[in-house]
Amino acid sequence: MKKSKLLVFSLVASLVLMAFATVSTAGPIVIKFSHVVAENTPKGQMANKFKELVEKSLPGKVEVEVFPNSQLFGDNKVLEAMLLGDVQLAAPSLSKFEKYTKCLQLYDLPFLLQNMKAVSTFQNGPFGQKMLMSMKDKGLIGLGYLHNGLKQLSSNSPLRVPADAQNKKFRIMGSDVLAAQFEAVGAMPLKKPFSEVFTLLQTKAIDGQENTWSNIYSKKFYEVQPYITESNHGVLDYMVVTSAEFWMGLPEDIRSGIKKALDEAIAYGNEISYEKSVEDRQKIIDSKRSEVIELTDAERQLWVEAMKPVWKKFENEIGKDNIDAAIAANK
Ligand code: SIN
Repeated sequence: MKKSKLLVFSLVASLVLMAFATVSTAGPIVIKFSHVVAENTPKGQMANKFKELVEKSLPGKVEVEVFPNSQLFGDNKVLEAMLLGDVQLAAPSLSKFEKYTKCLQLYDLPFLLQNMKAVSTFQNGPFGQKMLMSMKDKGLIGLGYLHNGLKQLSSNSPLRVPADAQNKKFRIMGSDVLAAQFEAVGAMPLKKPFSEVFTLLQTKAIDGQENTWSNIYSKKFYEVQPYITESNHGVLDYMVVTSAEFWMGLPEDIRSGIKKALDEAIAYGNEISYEKSVEDRQKIIDSKRSEVIELTDAERQLWVEAMKPVWKKFENEIGKDNIDAAIAANK
């Protein structure tokens, strides 16, 4: 072999060896899972369970770092961060995807899905499953749904009928449907990140908010809100999402191992979500810091009548077929 050819050959050989060494010493794939709620909630428990399961089934290959309580990103930043590759998994509430898809606004329509059984039926059916892929062209893939539960209204004054909410300021998640829902009862909605809610309530910068029993309990909203109306007027669930670039870049065996662990963790989160909501509701009642107001059928019907026109307003954006499928899921 000529001297110059030998030189090229050894250069190529060392480059190949270097590349191989990089792959084999690159270490495990690190998944940052960012969320905004406390650890003792369905989402917090699901994230921790996922870490436990995946690190057990893919030892040394995948590591999960869970960041609860908006420690890494708030709910207004996490999806942008995901598209930049700074976080690999998140489970924002379904109300927080409006910038990326309109169809998920369905879940915010007041009094549409009547209980968590109907929510599961819709999510597991063809319309709910199709929505998981509704942001693929924006670079986001839905890997599954996770329950939290039905929302209640908390306030610094008793809310029994829609007129009680008039001119009151309510914090909402970043959703135009939720804004329309509060406007429908003459209230003033304010879109604010979850991490700011407690302080806004404590300083009385706002009068109230809507949330699930587990969020009201774990974030201590009940300590600064003397009244909670058990309205069950809407659902607060999550979509576990990742970036298409990260997901499709994973080796096939790793991707399927992660999905298996995630499915199991989501099933666990869904299983505990109902009992958590019952427990946290009771803990709030026992605390005596907040009075839980149960509505009569007639009072509840007034809220339904006031808020239901919001469906029509968003029908074109959400899709009538999606709304019809949700109505059918109630049966
Ligand atoms: C969450 O449950 O992830 C937060 C809900 C909210 O922003 O109210």
